[in-house]
Amino acid sequence: MINEKAVEVDNLTRYFGSRQVLRGLSFTVRPGEIFGLIGPNGAGKTTCFRILATIIKPSGGEARIFGHDVVREASEVRRLISYLPEEAGVYKNLSGLDFLKLTARIYGGDSAMVDEAVAISGLGDSINMRMGAYSKGMRRRILIARALMTQPKLAILDEPTSGLDVEHAVYVRDIIKHYAEKRGITFLISSHNMLEVAYLCSRVAFIHRGAIIAEGNPEDLLKQHRVQNLEELFLKIREEA
Ligand SMILES: Nc1ncnc2c1ncn2[C@@H]1O[C@H](COP(=O)(O)OP(=O)(O)OP(=O)(O)O)[C@@H](O)[C@H]1O
Ligand SMILES: [Mg+2]
Repeated sequence: MINEKAVEVDNLTRYFGSRQVLRGLSFTVRPGEIFGLIGPNGAGKTTCFRILATIIKPSGGEARIFGHDVVREASEVRRLISYLPEEAGVYKNLSGLDFLKLTARIYGGDSAMVDEAVAISGLGDSINMRMGAYSKGMRRRILIARALMTQPKLAILDEPTSGLDVEHAVYVRDIIKHYAEKRGITFLISSHNMLEVAYLCSRVAFIHRGAIIAEGNPEDLLKQHRVQNLEELFLKIREEA
């Protein structure tokens, strides 16, 4: 479908008890793009991702992934996506390789799928190490390999490079870029690193207190608001919001 949208979020709301965390969130992601959700701690990024990943339900509004409603067609949505949670853990007693083999078996993949995942991880011989002994960067890399090896149409990565050193972060960014450009995977990511977002994303949305306060191509937004970088932009639009 030519006009198909990868993600359509329409007036999404979510309460936790009496507290409203998402206040009519709306944005769209086009197929093949890397879309970045930016916003301060507690803005609602993870809550939005968890709704899109069918882990929690919205209180109101709608969200569709490649046309499938995340509530009514949750199982179809799950077949199309991979979700990397913000604080995903690993099976400490499995080696990285056994973890990837297990994932391939669950998804009906073959040894080629495992080989590709090993390559994505870039972990070399450490792939045979127990994951309990992995550093944070190594854990993130194996989880990103796991998220991409199943060839999802959409990968939702919540702060994929959070807490990583420069080397690991650059590696992960290059993997994301490669899989978007060469495999056409659509990415929805969140990040607190504005340079990362400017480097990776064709479009970004700023979320503040559960609502989008600006959305667009990073360079267009900077021109439009006459600011030098995304950090300045956020401070400016937050004042105006
Ligand atoms: N399960 C929950 N129960 C109650 N409140 C919650 C729950 N999950 C999230 N919240 C609240 O919702 C708000 C948004 O949280 P969320 O984790 O979505 O923010 P975020 O933008 O991902 O922040 P961060 O940048 O710190 O990851 C926060 O105020 C948080 O306390
Ligand atoms: Mg979060």
